[in-house]
Amino acid sequence: MSYQSGYGFPADVLTDRARMERLFENNWFFVGTRGDVPKRRDYLQFQIFDEQYFLVHGMDGKIRGYANRCPHQSARLVGDQTGRCAARIICPNHQWAYDMDNGAVVHAAYMPDDFVKSCEAKDFALTSIEVREVGFMLFACLGDNPDHGSMDRMAEIIAPYTDPFALAEHGYKQAHHSREIIDANWLHAMINNRECCHCELNHKRLLNLFYPSAFNGAMTPEYQEVLNRAQARWTEKGLAWEEIAFDPHDYFRIARYPMVEGFKSITFDGELASQKLIGPFVDGEPDSGTLSFWLNPNCWVHFVSDHIAVNWLLPLGSEQTELYTSWIVHADAKEGVDYDLDHLTDVWNVTNAEDVGLCKSMHDGAKSRYYKPGPYSPQEQFCIQFSDWYMRRSEADA
Ligand code: FES
Ligand SMILES: [Fe+2]
Repeated sequence: MSYQSGYGFPADVLTDRARMERLFENNWFFVGTRGDVPKRRDYLQFQIFDEQYFLVHGMDGKIRGYANRCPHQSARLVGDQTGRCAARIICPNHQWAYDMDNGAVVHAAYMPDDFVKSCEAKDFALTSIEVREVGFMLFACLGDNPDHGSMDRMAEIIAPYTDPFALAEHGYKQAHHSREIIDANWLHAMINNRECCHCELNHKRLLNLFYPSAFNGAMTPEYQEVLNRAQARWTEKGLAWEEIAFDPHDYFRIARYPMVEGFKSITFDGELASQKLIGPFVDGEPDSGTLSFWLNPNCWVHFVSDHIAVNWLLPLGSEQTELYTSWIVHADAKEGVDYDLDHLTDVWNVTNAEDVGLCKSMHDGAKSRYYKPGPYSPQEQFCIQFSDWYMRRSEADA
């Protein structure tokens, strides 16, 4: 059975790992935020398919990406999910040391004295991958020919939304970071994220905060009224709000959405998660809205008045996906004083756990002899958008 727009993926597409690998080889994907590696020498490790990489905040302030393999004898360079390197990246195996700003080997223990200066040493620099920072968010590309034009266009479009959040360097920090390996295909996890028709039955607590229309892009008269009121408020406050939903560019969506009136943050009780406000709200009142950003192929990010909730997915194969979640707060916010970790993380911990169950269920279903790619409803328009985008961008000759 071949893929048909408006319907789920055929089973053979879901299991086509080569297609998935092509997609990640040739397109930018989300790998975290500056807030995940806020200080020089901070790193964040991640895995995609069978390979590990890490981002590192360089001594020059730039964030770069490297394969997490020592060029000497392939040992893993950084072991933890997040952490801080020494002044050099030092391999825990034979202590070769690398400059984090250019990947060059700067010390090779047990090698002849002139090795580091030799031509041969140049052949053993760290393997780097392309990383771009746009609006505090970090995007990587594994292939040799990344499309910088697409990142430039996105940077220009989202600047009015994200620039007000760009606090000075070190203005943010990671309050918490979690990872979960889901026994489900990455495509199922993405499809689950791109619609909210499952929310009514499965995310009862989340719907105390949000209108499903914010996620679906669907419109009801009630939501239209709430949206009109919120947009008038944002215009008055000088906050960009116009929705750009994968059009005219097919790889991202950004817009400001109202939360249920009275909610100050993404918390179940609606109260602030952190007492230190961020970005455009730092000297003012919290706003009952969220600036939300979705990127094809793999993330959704919600900027609110006091924190940034960041979720992204990376495939480990066609059977497993890793879900990454970070909560980013003001650099000066103190745990136990300005924020309580459970209060801050509750909404996405609960919601993601609910989604993980659904993803597994769909993944198992696609292996059933009774599996059929079913039709999407008009309210699942972003599933269709994602699926069409995926099929187009992962073609062998794309
Ligand atoms: S494997 Fe890294 S120093 Fe030898
Ligand atoms: Fe969900």
